[in-house]
Amino acid sequence: MCGIVGIVAGRDVAPLLLESLKRLEYRGYDSAGMAVLRNGAIERVRAEGKIVRLEERLAQTQLPGHTGIAHTRWATHGRPSERNAHPIMTSRVALVHNGIIENFAELQAEQGSVAYESDTDTESVAQLLTQYLEQGKSIEEAMPLVMDRIRGAFALAILIAGRPDILVAARRGSPLAIGYGEGEMYVGSDALALVPFTNRLCYLEEDDWVILHRDRAEIYNQGRLVNREIVYSMLSGAITGKDGYRHFMMKEIAEQSVVLGDALASAIDPASRQVALPGLDIDWKNIPRISMIGCGTAYLAGAVAKYWFERLASLPVDTEIASEYRYRQGPVDPQALAIVISQSGETIDSLAALRYARGKGQRIVGLLNNPESTIARESDAVLPVHAGPEIGVASTKAFTAQLLALLILAIQAGRARGTINAATETALVSALIEVPAQIAALVQRREEFATLAHALRDSQHALYLGRGLSYPLALEGALKLKELSYIHAEGYPAGEMKHGPIALIDETMPVIVLAPEDEWLEKTLANIQEVRARSGRAICFTSAQGARRLGDGVEHIVMPDVHPWVSPLLYAVPIQLVAYEAAVARGTDVDQPRNLAKSVTVE
Ligand code: G6P
Repeated sequence: MCGIVGIVAGRDVAPLLLESLKRLEYRGYDSAGMAVLRNGAIERVRAEGKIVRLEERLAQTQLPGHTGIAHTRWATHGRPSERNAHPIMTSRVALVHNGIIENFAELQAEQGSVAYESDTDTESVAQLLTQYLEQGKSIEEAMPLVMDRIRGAFALAILIAGRPDILVAARRGSPLAIGYGEGEMYVGSDALALVPFTNRLCYLEEDDWVILHRDRAEIYNQGRLVNREIVYSMLSGAITGKDGYRHFMMKEIAEQSVVLGDALASAIDPASRQVALPGLDIDWKNIPRISMIGCGTAYLAGAVAKYWFERLASLPVDTEIASEYRYRQGPVDPQALAIVISQSGETIDSLAALRYARGKGQRIVGLLNNPESTIARESDAVLPVHAGPEIGVASTKAFTAQLLALLILAIQAGRARGTINAATETALVSALIEVPAQIAALVQRREEFATLAHALRDSQHALYLGRGLSYPLALEGALKLKELSYIHAEGYPAGEMKHGPIALIDETMPVIVLAPEDEWLEKTLANIQEVRARSGRAICFTSAQGARRLGDGVEHIVMPDVHPWVSPLLYAVPIQLVAYEAAVARGTDVDQPRNLAKSVTVE
């Protein structure tokens, strides 16, 4: 989703801004732009589409200047176009924005006859600031007034015409970091955008606004100059590459065996085959229930974990879609533990749900892939999932790493609560130890999934079915297929098929069934027969034994034998491979599917 960056330096900043924008590319966007101050005048270049289009424009129109801002835009108000790309300009300012200005219509109405150059909500802020500057107010006077008047979520970076020595930035709701360099200063949406230049960062707090000079940052909040702690980012400045893969997504699917192997090594004792999760102090015995909160794939990781916590630890779990949780205003048990799951740690709905849960007195554990994120900073405890940078918009390795962390946590909870014995724990840990190699072997069989996906490429719709732990995984399978290949797909509990989706079944509708060797297999096999009886096309992922019981005419892929309670870690992989290969077969943009964003920083 929108990414912003700004630099004030003693050298030309356009190449630096471009480098930084490329590092924000993973967040998902539809247009990009840049502006610099040249002899005090603002000059700008924008382009619809990918950053390479902006780069092409920049090759034709040089932008020399020592102070500049740049943006990747994910459209909220106003369609994706060059006209609506940021920076938004007036006679006085150029401004880039991440977030949504909720009262833009009201502000625009108040501005009367002012002609807008775009259809964006952002322009209302640029025009408001311009108005104050034209009334003769200084920046120090105008910015607090602007902050008072605008509602919604924003991270802003602003150039002021005639002031090539400074850059102004502000935040509320959306994250913003300041980077401290040697004689130059930076501002950006996340640490990744800034670490090529500096590891000395400071994260602005709610309602902070700042004037950046080449050698310092003056940070203001509620009319006062404030100090914010400078932290050292551990992130690498090196660009993450595809390592020879055609897409980041395939690279990230293939990385899962190593990611899970490393994560396991730090969470279990291989000799005793017991979990050994260091540094997380949770009083499992006295927790009455868990609120498992997230969005998208992260939410579905929590939905799988519900089965684990309820069965292994006898702990009731409420799975909460973050954007619903806080607005539903249902009764919240303050003693319950809130587990907020997020790859990026920046998803605004998850962050807002975290704050809501905290407001209700819940303790927050952040299960995060980015431990330098806003959700990490606002959690009481952080459980990092250690998946490494995930660039493909559709989550893959972060999902399985989340699953692994949640299963380990559930085992730990079960042991603490006395609901599983040592033998069960040993059996689960022993099964987990097999998973990395099993995933590596599955990835080697990529061709089988490509063949299957090829056969799906002309389908309009598909159904994913599963029972028990495989039900939330079926939801994830459908989500992956639709977001990557644009084939409409639905996930359903297999037993629920007869209450609706069965009406859709005919020979054109692929029904993909997840049927590991578990306590629900018998019933799932019966559901497959119901599909077959209606001339439906069933495709089953199951064990060798399950495959023997399928009967004739059911396409299937034989999966490795796996402990039933560990199966989601393994069955996640074929659903990723099928979605990936279907997307490749249909020629869609695998790493950045249309309209989607990786880091969703608007509600
Ligand atoms: C977006 C991404 C998904 C992700 C979801 C939640 O929709 O495309 O892959 O699951 O956001 O993101 P988070 O960073 O909070 O896990």
